[in-house]
Amino acid sequence: MKAAVFSKFGDPAEVLEVREVPTPEPGPGEVRVRMIASPVNPSDTMFIEGRYGVRPTPPAVPGFEGVGVVDKAGPGLMGKMVVGKRVVAINNKGGNWAEYAVIPWKQARPVPADIPDDQAASLFVNPMTAVALTRHVLAVPKGEWLLVSAAGSALGKMIIRLSRRDGFKTLCVVRRSEAKRELIDLGADAVISSSEGPVPEQVRGITSDDGPRYALDPVGGEAGTAVFRSLGKGGRLVVYGSLTDEPIAVDPRSLISSRTSVEGFWLGHWMAERSIPRALILFREVAALIREGVLTTEVGATYPLDRVADATREAAAVGRGGKVLLKLGGEG
Ligand SMILES: NC(=O)c1ccc[n+]([C@@H]2O[C@H](COP(=O)([O-])OP(=O)(O)OC[C@H]3O[C@@H](n4cnc5c(N)ncnc54)[C@H](OP(=O)(O)O)[C@@H]3O)[C@@H](O)[C@H]2O)c1
Repeated sequence: MKAAVFSKFGDPAEVLEVREVPTPEPGPGEVRVRMIASPVNPSDTMFIEGRYGVRPTPPAVPGFEGVGVVDKAGPGLMGKMVVGKRVVAINNKGGNWAEYAVIPWKQARPVPADIPDDQAASLFVNPMTAVALTRHVLAVPKGEWLLVSAAGSALGKMIIRLSRRDGFKTLCVVRRSEAKRELIDLGADAVISSSEGPVPEQVRGITSDDGPRYALDPVGGEAGTAVFRSLGKGGRLVVYGSLTDEPIAVDPRSLISSRTSVEGFWLGHWMAERSIPRALILFREVAALIREGVLTTEVGATYPLDRVADATREAAAVGRGGKVLLKLGGEG
C-alpha cells in the first residue's frame, strides 16, 4: 500500500515522502481500515516535527483521525462486528495517512450514514474537544463570558457556534484584524485582535467588570500570557495547545490573591477516563451537533495522498481558511 512516511523529524513539507510499504495486518482485538480521508490537524504536523505529546521513533506514518471502511478484523469477536462498516478511525499512535491503517476495534466508531465523509473525517478531534472543554471541563454557565484565543481556528469556530446554542458569550482573540468580521458574522459576541493593542486592556473594555472567569488558549507564549492576565477573579484558564511552543508567564500573586488557575487539557487523556457507554453517548452528542451544523468543519483544499507535502504546506499557511483534507483512496 501507499503511505506518507517521515524518516526524521522536521518540516512536514520537507520530510514526508509517499512510499510503498507492506499493508498492515490486524492483530488480536484490532481491525484494519481502508482509509477514505483524513484532515491535516496541528497535532499531526507537530507529531512530524517531533514536538507533540506522542513522539514516535521514525520512520513513522502520521494521521490521528479520519474516516474509512473496516475491511478486516484480527482474532476476537468484537472487531468482526464492524467489518464492512464506515467508521471514524481514531489512531492514538498516528498512522492514518495511508491507504490502510490498523487500530483497536474500540477506536473504530461506526458513523451514521447521513454524515458525509468530509465531516466524518474530522468528527473526533475538534468537535469532541469543543464539547469536552465547554460543556464538561469548564462547564461554562449561560450568560458568562468565555475568552477564546486563536478563535479563527476550526475548533474556535465550533466553540463560537456552540456558544449560540448553549447560551454563553464568546470574547474572541485573533492575531489578524481582517479575521474579525468572519467571527462576528458567525455569532461571536465580541472579537479583538492582538495586533490592535494589549489584549487584557481590550478585554476589560468589553467585559466592564473585572474580566472573564473562563478562558481557553491553544497558543501559549505571549498570547497565552495575555489571556491569563485578562482573567477576572477566580478565573480559570484551560491550555489545550502549544502552537508557539513557548511558555506562559503566570504571576504567582494572581494565583494567590485573585485565585486564578491554569490547567491543561488533552483529549486523549480525557477520553481514556470515560467508560465505553459514556464515550458512545458523547459520540451521539457530537454527531447530532454536526447534523445541526454546530460542530461542522469547514473544508478548504483537498489533496490526494501523493501530494501530502503540499497539503501540509497549505495547512500551515497564515490565514489559511478551511481545514485541509487528504483523500486516501478508499470509498464509503
Ligand atoms: N488538547 C487537545 O486535546 C486538542 C484537541 C483538538 C485541538 N487542539 C489544539 O487546538 C488548536 C486549534 O486546532 P485547529 O485544528 O482548530 O487548528 P486550525 O484550524 O489549523 O487553526 C489554527 C489557528 O491558530 C492560529 N494560530 C496559529 N499560530 C498562531 C500563533 N502563533 N499565534 C496566534 N494564533 C495562531 C491560526 O491563525 P490565523 O488564522 O491567523 O492563521 C489559526 O486560526 C491547535 O493547537 C490544536 O493542537 C488540542
